[in-house]
Amino acid sequence: MSEKTKIQKLNDLKAQSRIGGGQARIDAQHKKGRLTARERLDLLLDKGSFREVDAFVVHRTNDFGLHEQKIMSDSVVTGWGTIEGRLVYVYSQDFTVFGGSLGEVHAEKICKIMDMAMKNGAPVIGLNDSGGARIQEGVVALAGYSDIFLRNTLASGVIPQISAIMGPCAGGAVYSPALTDFIFMARDTSYMFVTGPDVVKAVTHEEVTQEELGGASVHSEKSGVCHVAADSEADTLYLIRKLLGFLPQNNMEDAPFVLSDDPLRMEEALNTIVPDDANKPYDIKEVINMIVDSGNFFEIHENYAQNVVVGFARLGGHSVGIVANQPAVLAGVLDIDASEKAGRFVRFCDAFNIPIITFEDVPGFLPGTFQEHHGIIRSGAKLLYAYCEATVPKLTVITRKAYGGAYCVMSSKHIRSDVNLAWPTAEIAVMGPDGAVSIIFRKELEAADDPVQKKAELVADYKEKFANPYVAAQRGYIDDVIEPKETRPRLINALEMLSNKRDANPAKKHGNIPL
Ligand code: HXC
Repeated sequence: MSEKTKIQKLNDLKAQSRIGGGQARIDAQHKKGRLTARERLDLLLDKGSFREVDAFVVHRTNDFGLHEQKIMSDSVVTGWGTIEGRLVYVYSQDFTVFGGSLGEVHAEKICKIMDMAMKNGAPVIGLNDSGGARIQEGVVALAGYSDIFLRNTLASGVIPQISAIMGPCAGGAVYSPALTDFIFMARDTSYMFVTGPDVVKAVTHEEVTQEELGGASVHSEKSGVCHVAADSEADTLYLIRKLLGFLPQNNMEDAPFVLSDDPLRMEEALNTIVPDDANKPYDIKEVINMIVDSGNFFEIHENYAQNVVVGFARLGGHSVGIVANQPAVLAGVLDIDASEKAGRFVRFCDAFNIPIITFEDVPGFLPGTFQEHHGIIRSGAKLLYAYCEATVPKLTVITRKAYGGAYCVMSSKHIRSDVNLAWPTAEIAVMGPDGAVSIIFRKELEAADDPVQKKAELVADYKEKFANPYVAAQRGYIDDVIEPKETRPRLINALEMLSNKRDANPAKKHGNIPL
C-alpha cells in the first residue's frame, strides 16, 4: 500500500468513525429535537480544541448478531479539550450507536479519560444520552457501570465532575451522574429515572409519563436531583461553561481570579432593604446581587428548596460560594430539603477551596409532624456537620433573624466561622419575641387583667433586650456590627485577610456525616 493510500485509509476510517450510527439515525436524533454527541462537544468546548481518543475502538461482543455491527468509536465519544482555555476531559454518549447503550468498551473509554483526568487534575464532563446497559452484553455491561461508579467516587472531592442529561438516562445508569457534583438537564428532551413508566405501572398501577416521572422540571423542582435545568441543549452546554469559570481545576488549586467590579463599591440601597416589620419579607437575591461583583450570581438549585439560596459568585475577583436564607420563601425557615441542599453545597465549596459566604435571616427549623417524621433532625445535622467540618474561609452576615438552633448552624462563630458581621437590624436570640414571651411569662400572662396589653409590654421589653446584635457582639460572637451599605468592601477585605488561612480537621479515615 502506498503512503498516499495509507493516509487515505486513515482518513476513511476517521470519517467512518465520525458518522457513528449513520445519517438516518442522525436525522432521527435531530427530529427528536436533540443534537448528536459530536455536535454537543462542539458547543461545549472551545472551537477546535477537542482531541478525540479511541476513535478506532469497537465492541467485542458476538452474541445476538452484534458481530455484524461493529461501529467504530462504539457508542461514546471521548477525549479532552478546553473551556475558556482550561483543560477538561469529556465523554459524550452517542445515541445513534445502539441507542448510546453502555457495554464493555463504552465503559472502558469513559474509565480511560476519567483516569487521565485524575492524573492530570482536570474536571470531567459527561454528556449522557443512553438506553442504559447494553442488553446484549449482559453482566459485562453491569461490570462497566460499576467500574465507572468506583471512579466517580474516588474522584469525588479531587476533580470537579459535571453531568449533563441530554436524553434518556434510566435504570442504574442514573447513579453515575448522581455521584457527580452537578447535574444539568435539558428541558423537554431529557429524563432520568430508576424505573420507567411501564415498570411503574406494573408495580404500582400508577399511570405516569416520562416527563412527569423524571423530566427536568420534576428533578429541578421536586426531587432536587438536578442542579440546573436549562431551556435547551445549547443552553445546558453554555451554562456548564459558565459554571466552570467559578471552579478550580482540582482540589489542590484555587479558582481563577477575575476582577470585574470595584472592590470598594458601597450600596446605599442595602441600608433600607430590610423592612422595619420583622415579619415582612424581602428578597435575599436582591441583597446578593448588590453585593457580588457585577451582580453576577450563578445560582444552583434555583427552583428547589427556595427557602435557601445557594450559588457561586465573585467578590473582589475571588470565587465564592454563597449560602443564604431566603425570607421571601417560607420566611427563610430551614426544612429537610433546604438543609440538604445547603449542606451538599457547603461540602462542595470546602472540597474545592472556595470560601463560603453565609447571609443569615432564619426564624429556625420548620416545625410539624411531616418534618419530624421525615427526619429534620438528621437533615439539619447534615448542614450543621458540613459547616463544622469546612476549613475554607467562612464569612457570615446576619441581616435579620438568627434564632435558635439555626443561629448555631448557619456558620456561627462557635463552629469555626472566621468573620461574623451583623447588620443593625439583626436579632440574635433563642427564639422570636412572641414565642419567647408566651413561654417564659405564661403565668404572668394568665394572671394579667389585660393579657393582650401585658403581652405587648413584655414583647417590647424582650425585643429591647435580645432582638438586636449587641448582646452577641458584647461577647465577641459577632466581630462587628456594620452599616449594610458597606457589606461588599467589608467582605472583600475579610476574604483577603483570610487568603492564607490554614485549618485542618483531626486525622481520621473519614467522618460519619449523618446521611
Ligand atoms: C441495546 C439498545 C438499548 C439497550 C436502546 N437500544 N437501548 N440496544 N441495549 N439498552 C437500541 C435500540 O434497539 C435501537 O436500535 C436504538 O438503540 C434506538 O432505540 P429506540 O428504542 O428505537 O429509541 P427510542 O424510541 O428513542 O427509545 C429510547 C429508549 C428505549 C426509551 C431508551 O430504547 C429503551 O427503552 N431502551 C431500553 C432501556 C432499558 O431498559 N435499558 C436497560 C436499563 S437497566 P436500532 O438498531 O433499532 O436503531 C440498566 C441497568 C444499569 O441500565 C445498571 C447499572 C448498575
